[in-house]
Amino acid sequence: MAGAEERNDADMPMRDDATGVVTGGVEDAYGEDRATEDQPIITPGHSLLRDPRHNKGLAFTEKERDAHYLRGLLPPAVLSQELQEKRVLQNLRQFKVPLQRYMALTDLQERNERLFYKLLIDNVEELLPIVYTPTEGEACQKYGSIFTRPQGLYISLNEKCAFLVRGRVLETLRNWPEKNIQVIVVTDGERILGLGDLACQGMGIPVGKLALYTALGGVRPSACLPVTIDVGSNNEDLIKDEFYIGLRQRRVTGQEYSELLDEFMAAVRQNYGQDVLVQFEDFANHSAFTLLEKYRENHLVSNDDIQGTAAVVLAGLIAALKSTGGTLADHTFLFFGAGEAGTGIAELLALAISRQSKVSVEEARKKIWLDDAKGLIVTSRNETLEPFNKRYAHKHEPIKDLLEAVKAIKPTALIGSSGVGQSFTKEVIEAMSSINERPIILALSNPTSKSECTAEQAYSWSQANNAYIFPGFGLGLVISGAIRVKDDMVLAAAEGLAEQITPEQIDKGQIYPPFSNTRKISANIAARVAAKAYDLGLASQLPRPKDLVKYAESCMYNPVYRSYR
Ligand code: NAI
Repeated sequence: MAGAEERNDADMPMRDDATGVVTGGVEDAYGEDRATEDQPIITPGHSLLRDPRHNKGLAFTEKERDAHYLRGLLPPAVLSQELQEKRVLQNLRQFKVPLQRYMALTDLQERNERLFYKLLIDNVEELLPIVYTPTEGEACQKYGSIFTRPQGLYISLNEKCAFLVRGRVLETLRNWPEKNIQVIVVTDGERILGLGDLACQGMGIPVGKLALYTALGGVRPSACLPVTIDVGSNNEDLIKDEFYIGLRQRRVTGQEYSELLDEFMAAVRQNYGQDVLVQFEDFANHSAFTLLEKYRENHLVSNDDIQGTAAVVLAGLIAALKSTGGTLADHTFLFFGAGEAGTGIAELLALAISRQSKVSVEEARKKIWLDDAKGLIVTSRNETLEPFNKRYAHKHEPIKDLLEAVKAIKPTALIGSSGVGQSFTKEVIEAMSSINERPIILALSNPTSKSECTAEQAYSWSQANNAYIFPGFGLGLVISGAIRVKDDMVLAAAEGLAEQITPEQIDKGQIYPPFSNTRKISANIAARVAAKAYDLGLASQLPRPKDLVKYAESCMYNPVYRSYR
């Protein structure tokens, strides 16, 4: 074979079958003195300690240390996973700066994956603000400076097919070491949280989301793939930063952008099949709606900013009804912010009202008002409105100010999805309270500094976060082998979450269950979503399991160490 002849075996690592030792490396091409030259030696024990998926650190037992060439590579003490967890948590708490905690956790994830997930699952309420918002936002802003190892796959314009030259996106996907991928979270970094265009540095978002897919939804870490698509950035300061990790050019748009996205979607399907979930994350709203519409008929795609947020807010509203009474149709909703989150929620809410009250979706939309950067969305603005906002333009005189809008519309529920911090002022909250005995106020914007108000400032309030929904939603799609996402599945997820709130929690004014129960919540949401996928004939995992909740629980990744023989 010509290829074999050409290969220079002196460059290849060699393994001694008797000792298991692998030696090898560089041929002495420059005649260097072998006595002083580094001789790369890789032993199986050494490799094992550096493999985050299998490394257990000091938790390797005596037997395992013998069987896997670990003698001497570790100090004699053998610790349990629980003790390791206690120690890591203790160390983590020494860091007063959240970003340092983020970096320490990233380091742990890269060193010992099971310990990372065990820690995260057991301490979710404490660690969620570190691996997820708000700290991951700061991490993305500083991603270039804190970059150590790539935690996901970077696909840039350099990989795009051009002038009939075959694109390299498929090849790039094949460089990823895992073949059995079930969930991809992808961003182009144009609108990272409420922080703007962070382009390539948006990688922190898919990485953080997927950590929660595993911790809260039980999707295996090896089945998760974080992807960042780099098409440049319009953030001048970012691309001038000496530590910036992405392409230093302005964002491409239009055909070139669509072609790269098309190539990516085709490569995903070719490499992983049609039941891999591609979750779009933190795209700017002009791309987000278009991409979802474009791919949803032929691929398994979702957009968490649109659908996940919609489901979690709808769940909160359904739960709130248990306290305020009445049906969804009895309420008047005012959204402050009419982008991906606001419009996505409004659409799902309109669907829910129409299903609940047997009215058309158009009729249901009349109960919903949107307010954006230019004020209340009314018919006189029709000319300049995006199609997804036009459906909510009702007849009314124009109003610029939120307080005036609250007084005029008299909403029973006010939902903040603008990314504008502190916009629910004392006067706005007071106006809501004077109109309603129990007003529903949800401030969604992230990070916390951009939240419309804080918990203490609102009368009836609970931090709605789509981390309640997407892990269970994704798990439901995975376990049923769903091939498409339909709005009824999103509705089922919202109902699944709303069911989980107890009467005692409602009495306390809460509309979401505590995060510590999220794995149980996820299993229930997954079961509802999977059931809907089977009902709609969109599930490919057959036969349908009898008890979907139990089945979902049985499929969940468990980070407890395995014993090695
Ligand atoms: P987007 O950019 O698509 O939409 C923002 C909307 O707010 C636009 O309609 C814009 O016109 C409006 N807006 C901006 N300035 C305004 C002002 N001064 N007054 C009134 N409206 C104004 O952004 P997207 O995706 O809808 O996200 C909005 C916020 O919601 C972000 O902070 C994001 O982090 C947060 N979010 C929170 C989630 C959660 O689970 N808590 C999930 C998804 C988004």
